[in-house]
Order: sequence, then structure tokens, then C-alpha cells
Amino acid sequence: MIRTETSCRLVVVLFFIVNTGLSSPLSGKEDWDYVEVRDGAHMFWWLYYADSPSAHSMDLPLVLWLQGGPGGSGTGFGNFEEIGPLNRNQEPRKTSWVQAASVLFVDNPVGTGFSYTDGPGGYATDVSMVASDMLVLLQHFFKDKAEFQSVPFYIFSESYGGKMAAAISLELTKAVAHGSLKCNFAGVALGDSWISPLDSVMTWGPYLYTTSLLDEYGLAEVSSAADAVKRAVELQQFEKATELWSVTETVVEQNTNGVNFYNILTQEPDEGVVTSAGEDYISLQTRRHIQPLHSQSLSELMNGPIRKKLVIIPQNVTWGGQAEEVFSNMAGDFMKPVVDVVDQLLEAGVNVTIYNGQLDLIVDTMGQELWVKKLKWEGLPGFNKMRWTPLDDPASPGVTGAFYKNHKNFSFYWILKAGHMIPSDQGPMALQMLKMITQQA
Ligand SMILES: *[C@@H]1O[C@H](CO)[C@@H](O)[C@H](O)[C@H]1NC(C)=O
Ligand SMILES: *[C@@H]1O[C@H](CO)[C@@H](O)[C@H](O)[C@H]1NC(C)=O
Ligand SMILES: *[C@@H]1O[C@H](CO)[C@@H](O)[C@H](O)[C@H]1NC(C)=O
Repeated sequence: MIRTETSCRLVVVLFFIVNTGLSSPLSGKEDWDYVEVRDGAHMFWWLYYADSPSAHSMDLPLVLWLQGGPGGSGTGFGNFEEIGPLNRNQEPRKTSWVQAASVLFVDNPVGTGFSYTDGPGGYATDVSMVASDMLVLLQHFFKDKAEFQSVPFYIFSESYGGKMAAAISLELTKAVAHGSLKCNFAGVALGDSWISPLDSVMTWGPYLYTTSLLDEYGLAEVSSAADAVKRAVELQQFEKATELWSVTETVVEQNTNGVNFYNILTQEPDEGVVTSAGEDYISLQTRRHIQPLHSQSLSELMNGPIRKKLVIIPQNVTWGGQAEEVFSNMAGDFMKPVVDVVDQLLEAGVNVTIYNGQLDLIVDTMGQELWVKKLKWEGLPGFNKMRWTPLDDPASPGVTGAFYKNHKNFSFYWILKAGHMIPSDQGPMALQMLKMITQQA
């Protein structure tokens, strides 16, 4: 069978799972393809149609999932470690989002996951380029799969993915208004998102101090390193700020005996990236923040059975092979805030949700609270006046799993006992939140 880059396939996959000794058939429709979003810049997407016992897949929303990094792969990490129908061991996931929505994973920016560029000039260098690339992809997607044009479409994101999601949502809103793209855009959800990098970095010290992970000496050192980042941002020296952000992380690791940036309560033995003299900060940060999304077992899965199944991955493309270049090309943009973009989204009437994990350090909740208070949105005073509402953890009724607040087009979910990767840490709560945001609960 010949597959070309623009071919549109529909694959019905039937697989049988042996679980606790019983075999149960599980069927799901899926599809995937590449779109050349710019000359020599190939972006890979993978769609799972919603698979619910109680609703037709076209009666459920469509969710685009964007991973962080930049350079982390949604088709790999988001799919097999967080919300896809199967986990990394290819067993069914009980809290799969596919039971409540069709889920579209896209490896973006170009160079991420199975996406690739033919040459060094193909990488995106800022979020506006990331957004225009994604718009090309979405134009192709909604044209090829016209049946999704009327389905409520949500963008969910994690970490740096949130910064991209905000920029993409704004461009998407404009494109829909101009009629250059047909879809039923219903909202964006920013999970543990890098919207205001400085507010995150500046709260690391206080957050770690109040959770017994820094003593006063450590607090002073972390705060002083964070102040240097702040000065660079204020002087608009953004690449330098990215480098100093990396230095601040080293100071945090040294003072906390290697805290896990993604969940302060789940330190692995000997965690903490060993810094070697002379290593440039890009490669250090790739090891720190992209490698955890590309564990050896996940890489073996993606570059082994998964690429075999997908068939269309070019021979010389390795899943994750260009991740470091993706990150280094974005280094000048990394520390820039996009709070104003969130304001523009609210102004345009887009439904915006923030959700954040209580145990996340890298994008701690304190930092999110700070930038939310900087919004110019006219609804903010009303939002601030509200008290939050507790939500039961669906996995343990009677136990609080989250708090939330909603005012007009803006919601905030505080997810308890979760770190940066909320669906991995608190799968049932994350699924419940998905249903609430997409108005199914
Ligand atoms: C793969 O090989 C093709 C043809 O030789 C080349 O044009 C392309 O740049 C290569 N891609 C990568 C990611 O190395
Ligand atoms: C935004 O959410 C509200 C419910 O909070 C809903 O009534 C409205 O239709 C949503 N807007 C869009 C554009 O989907
Ligand atoms: C959402 O925002 C738009 C534009 O500001 C506004 O017209 C609409 O009433 C808002 N929706 C809700 C539920 O407040």
C-alpha cells in the first residue's frame, strides 16, 4: 500500500486486551497523518475518535492536546502517559479522555515527536510562528475531516503547551471570524501553563520554603537567583533570562537535595540533574525538561512498535530526534509572558479555563494566582469576589479532589495531590474536569 503525505486514511483498529485474566474486545477508530505546514516543515497529528458506550463519537467534543517543552511530544507523552486510550504498556487506561471526547494529538512545534524539518531553517522561533504553523495544520484537518467542523472544539494544554495554546486560540478565533477556517471553537484550557514565566520563577522560593523544602539560607539563594532572572526580563534580555532561569533551577536543586520540579512529593532516588562544567544551558535544560517526557521505555515504544504501526514515519526521522533543536530555537521566546494574549481571548468572548496542580513546582499555583490578578479583563473583580467550590475526588467520594471557581467566561481549577502532569497524577479528577469544562457534567 502506498501512503503519501496528504493521503487521508481511516483506520479501524481492533485490539484485544487481557486484563485480570479476562479478554474484552475494545474497538476504536483512529487516524493520523503529516501536514507540511511550511516548506520542509512536517507536522504530525494523531486522532482518536471518541469511544463512549453511551454516545455517538460525533456527539462528543473534540479536544486538541498540546504538550510542553517546547519539544515534548503529545503523540507520545500525552497519549501514552496521560490521557490516551492506552498506557505505555499498551494496556487500556481507565481514565482515558477518549471516553468523553475525540482527542487530537499534534506534535508541535515542528521538530517535536514525529514532526520534523528537512533543514535547520524549519524550526519555529516564537509563539506567533508556532500559532501560524498550527493554523495551517488545523485548516487541513478541518477540511479533511469536515464532519468535525460543527463539533465543539477545545484546546487543552500543559506547561509550555499552554503558552502555545493561548497564542493558537487567538489566531484561531480570528481565522474563524474571517471565515478562513471552519470549526466550532468552544474554549481553551491552560494546565500548569507557562503564561507568565517570571511569576513562576519568583514564587519558587516562597513555595519551597512553606513546604519545608528550603531553609532560610536556601530561600535567600533561590530568591537571589530569581531576582537575576527578573532583571534580565525587565531589560528585555530574554535569551539571557532563559539562561538565568536554568541557573536558578540549579540553585533550587542544590538547596533541596534534588526536588522533583514536576511534583514536589515524588522525588526519585538521586533525583536532580547532575550539572557538568562547560555544558551549555540548552543541553542542560533539554536533559532537565525534555528528557523526562522521553523516557527510555517511551522512546522504545515510539521508535519501535508505534512507528511500525503508523507506517508513514520517514526512515530517517526518529521520535524525539529534533527535540533539543526545537527548544534551542525557542530560547529567545521562552521567558516572554503572554498574559496579554489571555486578556485578548477573554475580550473576544473565548471561554478560558486555568487548571493547576497543587504539587507542581515549575509552574506553581502561587505564580498562576499572581498573573491572573494582572488580567485587565473586566470580569476580574467579580471573579475575585467569589469563593471557590470544593469538588469531590471521583476516585474517593467524600474526599476533596479539587476546588473551582467560574465567573463569566473564566474558570480556575485547583487540583489537589497533583503535580505538573495532572492527568498522570490524578486521572479521575482530570477526567471529571474535562467533562465539566466541556459541559458534560
Ligand atoms: C531525511 O532524508 C531526506 C531525503 O534524503 C532529506 O531530505 C531530509 O532532510 C531527511 N530528514 C531528516 C529529518 O533528517
Ligand atoms: C462558554 O461557556 C458557557 C458556560 O459556562 C457556555 O454557555 C457558552 O456557550 C460557552 N461559549 C462558547 C463559545 O462555547
Ligand atoms: C463571554 O464573553 C463575551 C464577550 O465579552 C460576552 O458577551 C459573554 O456574555 C460572556 N459569556 C458569559 C457566560 O459571561
